[in-house]
Order: sequence, then C-alpha cells, then structure tokens
Amino acid sequence: MGKGVYISKGLAIATVVLTVSAVSGIVLMVVMYQLQIKENPPKVPPTLIPTTPIPTGPPPNLRLPDNLIPERYEVFLQPYFYTVLENNTVQSHVFKGNSTVTFKCVKDTRSIFLHALQLSVSNVKVTDSVTRKNIEVERYEVHINKTNFFEIQLKEVLNGNGSYYELFTEFEGELLDDLAGLYMSRYTENPVNEDDDQKRFLMASQMQPTDARKVFPCFDEPALKAVFSITIIHRPETKARSNTPGEGKYTDIDGEQWIVTKFEPTPIMSTYLLAFTVNQFTDKEVKLENKEIRIWAKPEAINAGHASYSLQITKDILAFYEELFGLKYPLRKLDQIAIPDFGAGAMENWGLIMYRETALLYEEGVSSTSNKEWIATVIAHELAHQWFGNLVTMKWWNNLWLSEGFATYISYLGVNKVEPTWDILDLIVLKEVQPAMEVDSLNSSHPLSSTEAEIQTTAEISDLFDSISYSKGAAVLRMLCAHIGETAFFEGLKLYLKNNQYQSTDTTDLWKYMKEVSTEDVESIMYGWTEQVGYPVISINTSTGEIWQEQFLLNQTGDYGLEWQVPIRFMKSPLFKVEKEVLREKGPVARPAYDLKPGEWLLANINCTGYYRVNYDEENWYKLIDQMETDHHDIPLISRGQLIDDAFNLARAKYVNVTLALSTTKYLINETEYIPWESALNNLQYFILMFDRSEVYGPMQKYLRKQVGPLYDYFQEYTDNATVPEKHSEQFNQINAISVACSNDVQECTEMATKLFKDWRNGTNRIPPNLKSTIYCSAIASGDEDDWDFAWNQYEKASIATEKDKLRYALSCTKKMWLLNRYLEYTLEPSKIRKMDAVSTINHIARNVAGQALAWDFIRAHWTEITEEYGSGLMSVGSLIDEVTERFSTEFELQQLKQFRREHYGDGPGPAARALEQAIERTQANIEWVKENKQTVMNWFLQESKDH
Ligand SMILES: *[C@@H]1O[C@H](CO)[C@@H](O)[C@H](O)[C@H]1NC(C)=O
Ligand SMILES: *[C@@H]1O[C@H](CO)[C@@H](O)[C@H](O)[C@H]1NC(C)=O
Ligand SMILES: *[C@@H]1O[C@H](CO)[C@@H](O)[C@H](O)[C@H]1NC(C)=O
Ligand SMILES: *[C@@H]1O[C@H](CO)[C@@H](O)[C@H](O)[C@H]1NC(C)=O
Ligand SMILES: *[C@@H]1O[C@H](CO)[C@@H](O)[C@H](O)[C@H]1NC(C)=O
Ligand SMILES: [Zn+2]
Repeated sequence: MGKGVYISKGLAIATVVLTVSAVSGIVLMVVMYQLQIKENPPKVPPTLIPTTPIPTGPPPNLRLPDNLIPERYEVFLQPYFYTVLENNTVQSHVFKGNSTVTFKCVKDTRSIFLHALQLSVSNVKVTDSVTRKNIEVERYEVHINKTNFFEIQLKEVLNGNGSYYELFTEFEGELLDDLAGLYMSRYTENPVNEDDDQKRFLMASQMQPTDARKVFPCFDEPALKAVFSITIIHRPETKARSNTPGEGKYTDIDGEQWIVTKFEPTPIMSTYLLAFTVNQFTDKEVKLENKEIRIWAKPEAINAGHASYSLQITKDILAFYEELFGLKYPLRKLDQIAIPDFGAGAMENWGLIMYRETALLYEEGVSSTSNKEWIATVIAHELAHQWFGNLVTMKWWNNLWLSEGFATYISYLGVNKVEPTWDILDLIVLKEVQPAMEVDSLNSSHPLSSTEAEIQTTAEISDLFDSISYSKGAAVLRMLCAHIGETAFFEGLKLYLKNNQYQSTDTTDLWKYMKEVSTEDVESIMYGWTEQVGYPVISINTSTGEIWQEQFLLNQTGDYGLEWQVPIRFMKSPLFKVEKEVLREKGPVARPAYDLKPGEWLLANINCTGYYRVNYDEENWYKLIDQMETDHHDIPLISRGQLIDDAFNLARAKYVNVTLALSTTKYLINETEYIPWESALNNLQYFILMFDRSEVYGPMQKYLRKQVGPLYDYFQEYTDNATVPEKHSEQFNQINAISVACSNDVQECTEMATKLFKDWRNGTNRIPPNLKSTIYCSAIASGDEDDWDFAWNQYEKASIATEKDKLRYALSCTKKMWLLNRYLEYTLEPSKIRKMDAVSTINHIARNVAGQALAWDFIRAHWTEITEEYGSGLMSVGSLIDEVTERFSTEFELQQLKQFRREHYGDGPGPAARALEQAIERTQANIEWVKENKQTVMNWFLQESKDH
C-alpha cells in the first residue's frame, strides 16, 4: 500500500507541523494469457503433510491447504446503491454477485477450503471442468472465526492427478463505510451549501491485505495468482472501473435499466490487487505510447485542473520506470482515482490505483510544497509497486518488505527524476533511515523478513505495514545500492523482475539475482540486515584505532550475539579523502586507518549510506563538534544531520553523555540548511515531550529562541513579503524557523501569525500555502473560541482536501481543554471528521501538551468502538497507541498502560498489540531517562541560554 493503510508517522517538526502521511492494463489477450500460464505455471505453495490420505478436516493452521490451485475466476458484481438520491429514493447498501473459479486439483481431497468473510453464500455448485459432471455437495459453511475459511464438503473425491474443477457460488454482501473490501464513500458536489441534492455516493474498494474475501469467495493468498474476468452491473449514469479496460452495455434486468460493464481478463495476479469502483467522477487523460493514463476525481476537482500535476508526473515516472526496470508496464491502461474516504495513503491495485484526495490532487497556489512532495512521493511509490508487488509478488506476507521496501526506495528515484531540483535523494535519510532506526532500536522490533509460520492472522499481517517493512526496507536497499554500485544494483533488479514476472518470490530469490551481477557475496552481506532484528552501532576508538560492533538498543538488556557485515565509508581531516571497508567481525579489531594523528578527526558512515550508528571516543566527538562550530562546511551536509541524530540516540542508550548530544545543536545558530535542523528538531522533540510539563521547559524554550533567531531572520524577507524561497529544502526550513519561533513564544513570530489570521477573518487570506499549517496553528494556539469556530467553519467549507487537512491539524493546537474535548468527540462523528481522519486527528490532539491526557482518556473510554469501527482496514489503530502515549514518562502512566493491557488483551493478542508492547517498553525507558537526565539537562539549558 501507499503507506498503504500504513499511516507513516510524518516528520515531526519541533512543534508539530506533521506531514501527515499519515505516511501504494492491458489485459493480456487471451492468447497471451495462455502463453503465460504455460510459461509460468502457478506455483504450488509449500507442502503440508496430510495426516490422512484424503483429508477432510480444517488445515492445521490459518493457511489454505495446498491441494487446490486456482487459475481463473469469472466474477459478477451488482451493487444496488445510488450515486444520487433523487426524490427520496432510499439508499441501498446491498451488493449481490456470483463467481466461478476454475482450479486444478493436485492432491485427492473431499473438501474445498477457500476464504469468505461477511458474505452470505448460497447456491454452491462444483463441476468437473472436462466431463461437466456435477459433484454433489454434502455441506458448506463460512467459518465465523479468524480463519475466514469457507469450507465445502463433497460427497465425492476430487481427483488429485491435475484434474480441473469449477466452483460456482452466489453471494450477497453489504456496502458499508468501513473502508475495507467493497465500501461506500460520500462527498458533496458543492460543499458550501450542503443539502441532500448535493450528496453523492460512490463505491470504492480496498483488498490489501485480506479483504478480497469480503467481496467474493476466493483463495485469498498472495501466491495463489489467477486470471480474473470481472463484470460489474451498475446503475445508469454511473461509471464502473476495474483493473483492466471494460465496456458497458445498457440492459434491462427485472424491469429496471442497468449497465453491464464487462472487463477484459486481467493478467495473472494476486487477489489483494483487485479493484472496483462505481461512481460519477470525470477524468483527465494522457497517453504514453499506446497506454491510456487517466486521473479520476470528483468533477469539480477535474474541472479546476487539480489533476494536472499528478497526470504529468505519472506519465514521466512510468516512462522512467519502464526504462529503469527494462520491462514495460504490462497493462493497456492505468487509472488513478482520488477517493474522498480512503484508509491508506493509497493502494497500488494493478491498473486502478486508489488514493486519498490529498495524495493525488494538487492546486497551484493553494497546496503547499509539502503537499506537492507528498503527491509526487505517493505516486512514485504506487507506480513502483506496479512492478514490485504486482508483477513480482511476495510468496507470503512475511516478506512484505520485498514489496513495500522496494516501493519506498524506488519512489525516491522516481521523484528525483521528475523533480530534480528537490534533492529528494538526500532527504531519504530524514524520511526513512532515521525513523526506521528509531523503532528498530527497541527490543520489540522485528526482522525485515519473518518466518511464514509467525505471520498468520490478519492482525499479524496488518502489523507488518510498519516502518520496518517500509523504511528499514528502503534503508537496507539503499545501503546495498551504495555498496555494490548503482549499475550492478539495477542490473540485478532487472534480472530479478524479468525472471520472476507473474510469479512470487521470497528474499533469497532477490539475492540470487543480485549475486549474478556483483563480485560481492550479496547474500551473506545482506543476511544480517534482513533476517536479524535491529542494527549495529559501530564504535571507533581513534586513539587506539580499534573498531567493534554490537546491536544498538535503547535498552541494552544483554548481548544477543548478533553480528553484521558492515560496509563503512569514512574520511579524515585534513584531506577528507573517502575510504571504504567492510567490517566483517564483531571486534574489537585494530585498524591503522582509524588511529589518528593529533589534530585529526575521523568521520565514518559518510552521508549515512549505511544502516547503523557510529560512536567515537569522546575526544573525536568533540573534535567533530568543534569542526561544526568553526566551519561546518567541511563536514558533508547529510553527515551533519546524522552526527546530531547519532549523538542523541547514543545518549538515550547511554553510550555518551546527554550534554554531548545537546552540544551538537550549538552550531545550529550558524546553520541554515534543512537536514541538520530537521534532525535536531526531531531529536529535541523527545526533550519537549519529556519536559514540556516540567520546569525544564522554560530554560529549554529560552535556548531554542536563541538558536532559532538567526534562522528566523534569514527567512524574514520571505515571510514578510509572502514570497517563497527558491530551494525546495529552504522552503521546509522556513517552516521550521517559524514553527520553532512561534511555539517558543518569539513575540515577533506570534504577532505575525495572529495578524495574518486576523486579516483572514476579516476577509483576506494572504498566508502563503507553505506556511498555512504553522500559522493557523500558532494563531489558534494563542486565539480564543471565536478563532477556533472560524477555523472550524473554514474546515467544513474547504473544498480541497489539502486545505482541510491543514485546518484539521491547526484545530488541535488550541490550549483550551474544553475545545479540545469537544474536538475529540467530533472524531467519532463521521459527518464532522471523516473516519479515515479520526486516528490522525486524535494523534494531533495528543501531540498538544494540553490535549495529551484528554486524548488518552478518550481512547480508553472509546476503545471498543474505535477498534471495531476504525480497526478493520485502517491499520492505523497501532499508530494511535503509539502517538497518544508518546509523552508517557511517569510510573503512574506506566501502570495505566499495564491496566489497559489487562483489560483489553487479557485473552490474547488484539488489535495494535505490538504497538502497545512498544508503548510499555518505551514508557519504562522514558521513566528511567527522565530520572537520570532531568537535572543535567536543566543545568545545560540554563547555562547555554544565558545572555552573554
Ligand atoms: C424527481 O422529481 C422531479 C420533479 O418532480 C422529476 O422531474 C424527476 O423526473 C424525478 N426524478 C426521478 C428519478 O424520478
Ligand atoms: C451470474 O450473475 C450474472 C448477473 O446477474 C448472470 O447474468 C449470470 O447468469 C449468473 N451466472 C450464473 C451461472 O447464474
Ligand atoms: C473455526 O470454526 C470452525 C467451525 O466453524 C472450527 O471447526 C475451527 O476449529 C475454528 N478454528 C479456529 C482456529 O477457531
Ligand atoms: C554526500 O552527499 C552529497 C549530497 O548528496 C553529495 O554531493 C556528496 O558527493 C556525497 N558524498 C559522498 C562521499 O558520497
Ligand atoms: C529493559 O528491558 C528489561 C527486560 O526486557 C526490562 O525489565 C527493563 O524494565 C527495561 N528497562 C527499561 C529502562 O526500559
Ligand atoms: Zn506500498
């Protein structure tokens, strides 16, 4: 998914401007499809040993048995809903359908197991494909438990010699607003005067990971690929789209007119990539060679040109990927559609990619640079999936990283291609590497690649859509690419894709092809990074030249004996020559290269191309800090950011003193670059969370005011004249400057924000799009109830989703508890806050020191409702626990968490179980950290904020 379902934790800027990402054809003609089947026969899943010669009981675990291999589905779907409710028509939430799946039987069996969920199935028939003989059904049953099995017992044995059979089912389901399977989304044509005439409904779909079974009975596992022939029967005046091109015909059914749209057969593909929509949207189209590329959205957005940017970059990125991967996009069309209610950021369905509106629609002059970057990033991510995930799929969800890690890494190359001035490749360190290392330093982290047996239930699968699969996956691929070189890396990828297209793979398949193009033993280098949890810290003692590695854990509970093969690039003053080696042992080992002469310093992991941290002896640390203070240009930009991030994290894990970490921020008074500032602010965010309810906060704010002063001045002219800095990263750093200044009460800043907001209330909004979030937030924080209500009205009126998001965030900034409480209540009213936004809104409120405790009380009081209504399909419930408990640092809060675990997880794992464990572990660490560091930190800020 495009940060599919997974809502990434956005980049927290000191005070908060969260980039909420929260944070994913052609039909091959029949001839071609037969050819593919012949060349790439569907893979048989791993063998289970049957306990009886002809098993009839349920499989021993939650996986389907390996006796039946689906090859072809013919599916009819008829949703009865209306897109417009005219003359008091009553809305219908029913869909009906039937499906015929043709499968091969490779082991004698009397039972058929496939998946179905929340469907009422009737009329089950099994037929021998050759003889057309009917096989009598003894009984069938949809299991109402976590297996989601649909079991059919037969009176006769199916022949396991490769005979073909057909299973026909009729079924009926409901179209809810649960954002999973087939569901309904709602919007208004003209949001200024909402009344019934303007209400519009549409049907969208979200299958990943396990909701195709909610649409029709199917073998719902990624490796069980098949060809799908879909027909949708829908109301006149609506359009239906699916993965492949389709053609509609008006038909009378039971005296009513309908359109029957028949879609061309898909290529061989996984069930989780199917997509269906029925709506009244319009589109904008371009062509790439013979391929039709379209963006679909509500008519007013298309008419206003909001699809132009995404259409243009889609074409360019797609062409770039075809070249980069050496394989053409295999379908004849590519639709991308902006859905008003969508759980994930986006979903890469083959040929019909679905997005949140904020991830696809761009309005020049209204959307911010960060909105634009998000759109480009998500599109590049979903397009990468058309190869990584769609064409070549992971055998099972335990290797999800092969899909999400690649899509995340490749998306940076895609964005760089269409927006070369952005230097987006540098930002990968901030956006992926650092966040991944943060969660991967906890004991509750998990390896990139788990075993198949560990990942069974939908909850376990959903948990994998996290920053390990996405961001660590990307970080590890980036490291490999830097190590073996881009040429070899992409040659290897081409081989991997070409040899596995229309099939499924696991991690070893990838290394097999990488090995063919590199002299390095890729598999043994990569083993530690994908199969082991965590990552190392490399320690270098520059007075002895010794180097060693150990696992980096915030809570070092013992040595688990893990070792990595670590590619290291380093340089020394005064020559700054880049040298390379691979550390293959645990050490300590002495290396003359690391033994410094007096006055020299050493910098390792240049540009943070490696997925690890580096610690030095204290002397070298202070030499590096001195260098930054005297002339920071001698240290590469990305490394300046990384030194800060490493120092802070090493301090948290007690490798270095907290004052050493804080000292890396002193030079920022002379720094105008975004990467180091952002790294520092991300880390200081932790200090804010730990101390903003304590007496440390005053001196800390004073220090931040001092450090940010020159940066605020640097951008002053732009801010005053409402002009935009030219460089992409400077635009972000301007936001940092204002956000840090305003949230730390720099008077000039808060006055500026309040004035601009007041002008808006009086009728003119002159706030530049980039600054809207932070200025709205600052004005509402210092404003009153009327300001809040004004912003709420603007929120309700806003027609473009990016503007809505900025206001939705800013509304969480008020310091008035009763407003925050009322706002929390709104999150459970979908007519006020859309379901897809509920979790991130609560998270915003929890970020606000005034809202933190309220948010925690709120989710405890409504936990059942939240997990039932918002838990399915929306895998962000984990992020709710994660973010709402972020500030927890007292014994009392720890007890509350444990109490919560007892109440809701007493009888086994529930939703967000992993997030809860991580929260408990983190709270314990926070308690200790605060105890140990509070006084030191207080003294340091007092000392450094003195006016000299
Ligand atoms: C709804 O009512 C209007 C006016 O009474 C009529 O013109 C229109 O045809 C009706 N529409 C439908 C779908 O019945
Ligand atoms: C499946 O449904 C479609 C549409 O309602 C219908 O035309 C078709 O006859 C059905 N198939 C069977 C085998 O009943
Ligand atoms: C699921 O339900 C079926 C019967 O409906 C039962 O046979 C099976 O053991 C159950 N499985 C689990 C894992 O609860
Ligand atoms: C480090 O990154 C910068 C910016 O991307 C680049 O210009 C420089 O060449 C890189 N240095 C090394 C040694 O890779
Ligand atoms: C560290 O982990 C151990 C074992 O898991 C645990 O008992 C201890 O409380 C943890 N300490 C901190 C500070 O998290
Ligand atoms: Zn994805």
